[in-house]
Amino acid sequence: MIAKTPSESRTIMTDMVLPSETNPLNNLFGGELLARMDRAASIAARRHSRRITVTASVNHVAFNQAVPNGSVVTVDARVSRAFRTSMEVYIDVWVEDRFTGSKSKANDAIYTFVAVDDSGKPTVVPEISPETELEKERYEGALRRKQLSLVLSGKMKPDDATELKALFS
Ligand SMILES: CC(C)(COP(=O)(O)OP(=O)(O)OC[C@H]1O[C@@H](n2cnc3c(N)ncnc32)[C@H](O)[C@@H]1OP(=O)(O)O)[C@@H](O)C(=O)NCCC(=O)NCCS
Repeated sequence: MIAKTPSESRTIMTDMVLPSETNPLNNLFGGELLARMDRAASIAARRHSRRITVTASVNHVAFNQAVPNGSVVTVDARVSRAFRTSMEVYIDVWVEDRFTGSKSKANDAIYTFVAVDDSGKPTVVPEISPETELEKERYEGALRRKQLSLVLSGKMKPDDATELKALFS
């Protein structure tokens, strides 16, 4: 399989925040943002693998900034690293200033997707070749994050998480 770049999977979704999607403080409800990120990340994983993809894990989410009703929100997702059948997808969330149009980073998240065949069996995906400094940085950290996710879900023994353990020694 020919290696792909993160930009080939890049998926950008822009949408408004409507009143039905807010919490009692009139800010975007967290679950709504999780769904938007899941959708964009799923498309990115599909673009990379050209297979059916399923969410295996939400590895990290940071709700750093409240997003008010009426905001224009952009979810920007791309595959940061591909393993054998799984892919890490990094998602940046931007909010557009109503008056200036400038965008500020509101949130980010990291999801893991697995490519599957028609019967739901994991299937091999192409490798990825990062290009920019940011893509290289995210690629480098992805193996540690995968190991952490597997340890937390009980699918890997902490002793086997070699690259993760190296962070602490
Ligand atoms: C995700 C799923 C396909 C994994 O199946 P599985 O039988 O555990 O398959 P494997 O053990 O071979 O794992 C497949 C890959 O996923 C990775 N993986 C599994 N769980 C993971 C986790 N919690 N975090 C990170 N990676 C994980 C494995 O490391 C493996 O990666 P690799 O092949 O790139 O090395 C399966 O659990 C599934 O179908 N889950 C439901 C998915 C779904 O419905 N999502 C929507 C929720 S509403």
